[in-house]
Amino acid sequence: MKLFVDTGSIKDIESIAALGILDGVTTNPSLLAKEPGDFRQNLKRICEIVKGPVSGEVTATDFAGMLQQGHDIAKIDAHMVVKVPLTRDGIRACKALSGEGIRVNVTLCFSAAQALLAAKAGASFISPFVGRLDDIATNGMELIREIVAIYGNYEFTTEILVASCRHPIHIVEAAKLGADIATCPPAVIEQMFNHPLTNIGLEKFLKDWEKAQAVKA
Ligand code: E4P
Repeated sequence: MKLFVDTGSIKDIESIAALGILDGVTTNPSLLAKEPGDFRQNLKRICEIVKGPVSGEVTATDFAGMLQQGHDIAKIDAHMVVKVPLTRDGIRACKALSGEGIRVNVTLCFSAAQALLAAKAGASFISPFVGRLDDIATNGMELIREIVAIYGNYEFTTEILVASCRHPIHIVEAAKLGADIATCPPAVIEQMFNHPLTNIGLEKFLKDWEKAQAVKA
């Protein structure tokens, strides 16, 4: 299973990439708007650090605008993936860009029917938002289960990129269901490391070692 980080922060991406467990990055307009500097230069720098798929989202809402912005984003770097929203124009743009060999991530997916449309339009990635469904008292992971089953039935090659992951359990559940990728904020990757028994165990190993050295000395 691949792990992506969902952020526009170059500092956070550098520190997570250094761990050797990062496969890609997702951004969205809200995340990039928080970062200083030119968004194209920032995305270029992110591609250089991660050397894996980096999603940059269009902000146009019409087909022609999405195509223009999609071309612009794809030109930034070979690792760039164009993110389009799951609207009629977005699906049309997905089909057109994918036909040109540009990888597309269809975002803001909240139903299995939408995921089916994205696969049919040749999306490289579909981004179902589990956290935002949980927020409205709908089980986000059930959507992942449905998409995994549907894509499996027809051998669609679109990768299931579980988005809006809010805690490590979302990532573990996505992995258990066989989703291809989970994307989450840097803080959630931090949380994945944590277990009190690891800290307690390490402290005891080191104390025992020091005690034995003192006796031998
Ligand atoms: C994914 O591509 C989105 O950027 C992201 O996962 C949205 O997460 P949120 O619902 O926590 O904002």
